[in-house]
Amino acid sequence: MGAAALKLDVRPLTPSLGAEVAGVDLRCVDAETAAALRVAWLQWLVLVFRDQQLDLDALVHFTETIGPADFAPPQEADVRSPLGHPEIMIVSNVIENGVAIGSLGSGEAPWHTDMCYTDVPPIGTLLYALEVPPEGGDTTFVDMYAALDALPDVTRRRLTALRMKHDRTYTAVGTLRLGEREMADVRLTAGAVHPIVRTHRETGRAALYLGRRLGAWICGLDVNESEALLDTVWNVALSRAQTYRHVWRGSDAVLWDNRCTMHRREAFASDARRVMLRTQVRDALPGGPS
Ligand code: SIN
Repeated sequence: MGAAALKLDVRPLTPSLGAEVAGVDLRCVDAETAAALRVAWLQWLVLVFRDQQLDLDALVHFTETIGPADFAPPQEADVRSPLGHPEIMIVSNVIENGVAIGSLGSGEAPWHTDMCYTDVPPIGTLLYALEVPPEGGDTTFVDMYAALDALPDVTRRRLTALRMKHDRTYTAVGTLRLGEREMADVRLTAGAVHPIVRTHRETGRAALYLGRRLGAWICGLDVNESEALLDTVWNVALSRAQTYRHVWRGSDAVLWDNRCTMHRREAFASDARRVMLRTQVRDALPGGPS
């Protein structure tokens, strides 16, 4: 049966961003189902799968139906390979025997795209919930195709010719990343440079690629001018584009497209437990990142 013929139960969560896929066990996704999931992922950008029972191997195995699993990035502490799976990052606030079992704590993780500070950012991220707090810790996504469309023509044209430096000094929660040092001048920080408007190589659509606000610099502009333009663009992106807020349940798995979404994680009580496993899909598509 071809992908077009395989009918998935896809239930939209907003008119254009985010869909729940029912009736799929991520432990046993065959080629037809994988192809149909990819079509749904490219259309809805964020896919939610409830009630999944994934062990570490199954998590990596499903990730690899999307593309090769990328190594987890270094975080604020050396938690890179605590599970014997260098592809899996533990996102957690839990402290055991005085040591954090994972990254990103319980504070807010402001809007960002995963690993934008690398030369070849992952195309997707999969986050699987083992334990969730009774409240807080929701993750909200924003559609960056729509964010680009929401900008005035003149701004869009200007941005199309510009590239941005994505600072890698800090983690998504603003803590110093292992092996980095503080740098006050945004023009001199370590990181990667990407076009601000990137063409998604699978959909052919243009999306705004902002990465994260902290430490960002539009190459070639005076720092004040860069800050003012970034403020304007961020404001439009977050006020006019479609968002989807995911309220986690244990055993949820959420797959998002890093090429055309950003996300933000809300804070939650530091004495509540949140334990998530994250994998990321390496960009191995022909043509390299735009
Ligand atoms: C992340 O940004 O990788 C984690 C998001 C979350 O904890 O919800």
